[in-house]
Order: sequence, then C-alpha cells, then structure tokens
Amino acid sequence: MSRYAYVNGRYLPFRDAMVHVEDRGYQFADAVYEVCEVRAGRLIDERRHLDRLERSLNAIRLRLPMSRAALGVVLREVVARNRIGFGMVYLQISRGVARRDLAFPVPERAPCIVVTARALNRVRLEALAAAGIAVVSVPDDRWGRVDIKTVGLLPNVLARQTAIEKGAREAWLVDESGAVTEGASTNAWIVTGDGRLVTRHADRAILGGITRSVLFDAVKALGLTIEERRFALAEAYAAREAFITSATQNVMPVVRIDGRVIGDGKPGPVATTLRQEFHRFAETG
Ligand code: PDD
Repeated sequence: MSRYAYVNGRYLPFRDAMVHVEDRGYQFADAVYEVCEVRAGRLIDERRHLDRLERSLNAIRLRLPMSRAALGVVLREVVARNRIGFGMVYLQISRGVARRDLAFPVPERAPCIVVTARALNRVRLEALAAAGIAVVSVPDDRWGRVDIKTVGLLPNVLARQTAIEKGAREAWLVDESGAVTEGASTNAWIVTGDGRLVTRHADRAILGGITRSVLFDAVKALGLTIEERRFALAEAYAAREAFITSATQNVMPVVRIDGRVIGDGKPGPVATTLRQEFHRFAETG
C-alpha cells in the first residue's frame, strides 16, 4: 500500500516527503510534536492532544500555524489516505527553515508542518498486554522542561536502546533522588500493596500524558484511589502492580522491573481493568 505524508500544505507520496536540510527541527530540535491514537479510523482525544500542542508551541514561542479545525482536517486526511484503521498519527511543527543560527530567524519563517500516519500491530500489542512487559531503570539525564513535547529526544532514544539491549520493552527514568519520573515515551504507574494507584505528579519533570489524564477520569469512575506523587524505584520493585501509559500503548502492564518480578509476575487486575475501560473515557472523534 502506498503511504502518504503531509508536508507544508501538500499530500506527498512517502518517498517524496522531505524537509530542508536547514529545517530548525533537524538542526536544533527546535520543534514540537504530537502522537494521537487512531482506532477504527478515528482520532482518539484529538481535543486534548491539540490543547497540549498549543501549550508546547506556546512554551517555545511559536503560534499554531493554522486553525485547530484545519489541522484536524489534515490529521484526518492523512489517516484516510493511508487507510489507517488501528494505528497512530504523528504531527511535527518546527520553527521553519533558516540559515543556521541559534537565535530565532528574522524575519519569522513559515513553520514546517509534517503529518504522517502508520498502522500498529494490534494483535501484537494485545499479546504484549496479556503477558506484560519488562522495563529497566536508567538515570533520567534529560533537560529541565520535558513537559514540553519537543523532538529533542536523544536521552529518551538512548534510554530506550538500553532497555532493548537488556531485553526489556521500555526504560524507566530515575531522577537523582532515586524516584521514577516516567518512561522513555510513556508515563509510569504503580499500584501499592494496599491498592492505591500512584503516578508522579505532573510538573516540569515529566510529560503530562493525555492517556494519563484520561485515566484520572477512569480511575475516579471506577472508585479507585489515586496519588500523584514521587515514588522511589524501591517502592516500584515492591509494588503489587506496575504499568505504563501512552497514546500508542494505552495501558500496558509491567511485570518485571530490572529483572525483579512485580506482584505475581502477571498483569494485575487494576492494569487489566483500566486497559479494558480506557476507551469509555477517551474522546473518539
Ligand atoms: N510518547 N512521556 C513521554 C516522555 C512521552 O514521549 C509520551 C508519549 C508519554 C505519554 O503521553 P501520551 O499519553 O500523551 O501519549 C509520556 C509518544 C506516544 C511518542 O513519543 O511516541
């Protein structure tokens, strides 16, 4: 099947989808992005993702280059042209193309907008969720504003690669105090021995996940108790359950951290229920 991408106003066959060598996203990671789940060809939580996109743009002092409605049309068009049933859509906006100079270009350049979409292997993801995944801990050596969803992801790339090389699927990033911040591209959660859900409070040290915020609604409706606070890696080792969340993985149970078995080594009831219930609380476009 041919694939298409949207690049600066045009829908192009994938092989022709290029950005300039002096795009500031390429040279400086001077760009922000979003990833949205696609289910039955529909965008999940588009409103929340576009809200976060606006916050990220604002933080790097860029404006939304087109209306939200127009951007929504582009996202849906890329999903449709690629005939995505189950998968993801990716949107990236950079500060545009200019001679390499750290300062913002004067005059302001047109931002560079790219949208791609691809199918995800649902059967494989469900099999992973049924078995649970392994994570390994690595030091969180990222910059101080990871709440902005920028494409500056080198520490995340290295963390994920370490995880893969150790036979795990995700890395959990641990700050200098020994607390887990989040995963390389996911938020991190545990369920304590007495059944309370814990995830790190959303400040500048984690990305405020959309899946994470939707789960807050689900958790309340299901009558579970949630605590937003730091949790140490040692507390995670002793947890009854652990899981990660993201737009592309939903709720994914974690059954091993650094080789230690979590709970009874199987996906726990809280993670499993939240995975099943998630889309009742998400917004389907
Ligand atoms: N990652 N933390 C980080 C560092 C992330 O990169 C992501 C998302 C999340 C979860 O956010 P959300 O629930 O909104 O997907 C948390 C996307 C999926 C990615 O980079 O592919």
